[in-house]
Amino acid sequence: MTEPNLNAPTLQSETLPPQFLPLAQHAIQASKWQLRELFADDANRFNKFSLDAAGLFFDFSKNHINDETLALLTELARARGVESLRDAMFSGEHINVTEDRAVLHTALRAPAGASIKLDGQEVSADIEAVLQQISKFSHQIRSGSWHGYTGKSITDIVNIGIGGSDLGPAMTCAAMRPFSQDGLRLHFLSNVDGHEIDAILSGLSAATTLFIIASKTFTTQETMLNAHAARRWFLQYGQTQDLAKHFVAVSTNTAAVKEFGIDITNMFPFWDWVGGRYSIWSAIGLPLAIAVGIDNFREFLAGGHAMDTHFRNAPLEKNMPVLLALTGFWYRQFFGSASHLIAPYHHDLQLLPSYLQQLEMESNGKRTTRDGQPLTIPSAPVIWGSAGSNGQHAYFQLLHQGTDLIPVDFIAVLKAAHPYPDQHKALLANCFAQSEALMRGKNEAEVKTELQEKKLNAQQIDALLPHRVFPGNKPSNTLLLEKLTPFSIGTLIALYEHKVFVQGVLWNINSFDQWGVELGKVLAGRILSELDTNSVPGVSENHDSSTTGLIARARIAM
Ligand code: F6P
Repeated sequence: MTEPNLNAPTLQSETLPPQFLPLAQHAIQASKWQLRELFADDANRFNKFSLDAAGLFFDFSKNHINDETLALLTELARARGVESLRDAMFSGEHINVTEDRAVLHTALRAPAGASIKLDGQEVSADIEAVLQQISKFSHQIRSGSWHGYTGKSITDIVNIGIGGSDLGPAMTCAAMRPFSQDGLRLHFLSNVDGHEIDAILSGLSAATTLFIIASKTFTTQETMLNAHAARRWFLQYGQTQDLAKHFVAVSTNTAAVKEFGIDITNMFPFWDWVGGRYSIWSAIGLPLAIAVGIDNFREFLAGGHAMDTHFRNAPLEKNMPVLLALTGFWYRQFFGSASHLIAPYHHDLQLLPSYLQQLEMESNGKRTTRDGQPLTIPSAPVIWGSAGSNGQHAYFQLLHQGTDLIPVDFIAVLKAAHPYPDQHKALLANCFAQSEALMRGKNEAEVKTELQEKKLNAQQIDALLPHRVFPGNKPSNTLLLEKLTPFSIGTLIALYEHKVFVQGVLWNINSFDQWGVELGKVLAGRILSELDTNSVPGVSENHDSSTTGLIARARIAM
């Protein structure tokens, strides 16, 4: 029995953009392919469907693709305008149409002095000036020459931010752990849940703690509440005039930073053309620069730039971000896969899935086209995952024998930065084994032989057989990094940023706004005032009975 596990797509030509039709036809054929057979039929498959770029290696051979699939997918990418929009992004055009903004995070990682114009003005001098500011400050903290109010050096840095103002620094600091300076502890406070600030502050001394208030807008409720709570906590020990030694800000909003009481000389600026989820390359990366030093931070930027150069120059057929985007798009668009697993087999990359969740889902979780029409095709899948090999003992069962098609990106690092070679070999073995198992599966004949060897009788074999068969034929990509370094982490993040960009173009959506998060923010503001037990219950807003009931129960308990 070969079990087809790619649902044969149905042709919905009335809702599909006409450019998608050749691929939709082709997908009907592809749904009949078995990956095992594609490999058996072509000894050169791995070489053909893999490539090196900017120090990363990308194996996409375990996908339901052949030469024709790739030709059709890249033809579609061209027809949808991937190349022209890519060039428009790099040249500072306002491609974020709903906010009338340029999308220029790539300028932050361009080599010093590169000519990049935004609305006719060079931006590289401003970028370099902030990098110098970061360099000076991070050196002062790292060398111990920045003194707190008692004259002691800083030992603990608390980054207060959320979303892009938290996930980027938190993820990269974890990923670059071996490059971090001993004796400096980084903490990331994002949740408005007071348990988090309580847990972090309870272990700290105000005299040796630095707070970085990181917020592009400097208005985000969670961040501002935590920032004010941290300020009150500090003032239990230090004086108002000591605040400047212990609070710095990263923001685009100078007025709000001033109003909070932070010395403007301790504000690290960035610009509205840097989206929150693309801001790790900006001053939002300050905690990272403090942890690993400015030289490593610049290496990280150089890694991002190396991927930019590849993305701008390689033909679509040999372009890593484009191919990563197209393979994901293929399953999302034509085979109904609603989620995509990110499986980094490296403990220090454990936050990467959360980081990519924001990057992909906030960018491409949209239902309206760039020109304001309702989208008639599915956009971004759910992105999820955790570090391997833990997931194998938790949710991989569903990948192997569940009913959904879930493409996987395996990410592995070939050289370890620890002295436990046996563990490293086992980690890589598990990573490669999972992609092989998902692809191959185990058929009835193989299960039968195995059970016969265990001396089970025919009746026992018949009963167990359906449970022991793995259908296989499940797609995955594998990305290999030689070593986890600031440079390679830079290339990896930029790879995914451009993947998201390409998919956004394929879906014809604006990947750079996030209006969908606004409604909840507004309603939370209203409900906050109703939770105030001094307010009169039920008068400020008309809610549904569920929301009213929940508010009432909370008021009683608080
Ligand atoms: O609510 C979503 C969001 O705007 C993200 O896009 C952003 O990264 C996060 O909130 C934090 O925003 P800010 O840096 O302005 O505090």
